[in-house]
Amino acid sequence: MCGGCRRRQCGPDGTPDGGRRGCGTVIAVLALAAAAAVAFLESAAGGISYAGDGWLHECAKWDAEGGRFLASTFFGGGVAEVRAGEGEAEERVVVADPVAAGRVALGLAVDAPRRRLLLVYADRPPRLGYAALGAYDLGSWRRLFLTRLDVPGESTFPDDVAADEEGNAYVTDAKGSKIWKVGPDGALLGVIKNATFVQRPGLRHNLVGLNGIVYHPNGYLLVVHTSGGDFFKVDPKTETVRVVKVRGSLRRGDGLELLSPTRLVVAGLPNRSTGSGRRLR
Ligand SMILES: *[C@@H]1O[C@H](CO)[C@@H](O)[C@H](O)[C@H]1NC(C)=O
Repeated sequence: MCGGCRRRQCGPDGTPDGGRRGCGTVIAVLALAAAAAVAFLESAAGGISYAGDGWLHECAKWDAEGGRFLASTFFGGGVAEVRAGEGEAEERVVVADPVAAGRVALGLAVDAPRRRLLLVYADRPPRLGYAALGAYDLGSWRRLFLTRLDVPGESTFPDDVAADEEGNAYVTDAKGSKIWKVGPDGALLGVIKNATFVQRPGLRHNLVGLNGIVYHPNGYLLVVHTSGGDFFKVDPKTETVRVVKVRGSLRRGDGLELLSPTRLVVAGLPNRSTGSGRRLR
């Protein structure tokens, strides 16, 4: 139970929830994610291999201070750490939050200045509706907040998250192609919606909409639309959205990572013109 917290926001005590609604789109999302994982494994020469529970880890981020990778354990509904040292790397589950039991864990982001992890939760397939953002202390793994993002009757598929330097979190909705904004204390501050996010109408071009997202140190968000292959620059203050022209295709682009302020990696399924990893300048 979650006593005394606002309706859509909960503290460490947790929240009652009510998963609902079903839809087929999530199957496509899953198929895409699974295929992406396979593509990654096949081309992972020089990467880190390890044995772990479950066959699908949706997202992985490097925690520099902790010297480890943190990976979401999709069906485990939590997070595992992977330390690469001598010999074979090992996976250790660090987050398995009872409040999110039965959900799946998707995108995550390390909010390094606050030493905390942001984690996106969604409904377990084939349901499609529940959307939440959790925050956990990177040392003790104590839950700092769990905020519900969906509203009743809305079909959503929350996917990835990025944090700005003030600790605001931006969560993409791959179903509705919008971005939830959550404040540093877990309050849902608003939703960034813009017709520009949908460059081509129709389900075929919007099966998986806004997906990977990163915050650029110059004060803007970069976000990829998976089915359309479109790439956007979003000013979180003014909420204006601009299409970024990219040479080559970003179709099936999934996760994003900034290597430096001028170099970006786009992970995802290969398309006709590229492999599963694409690098942008
Ligand atoms: C959407 O973004 C455009 C800029 O591309 C801006 O002019 C417009 O006001 C935005 N719409 C909304 C609803 O914020």
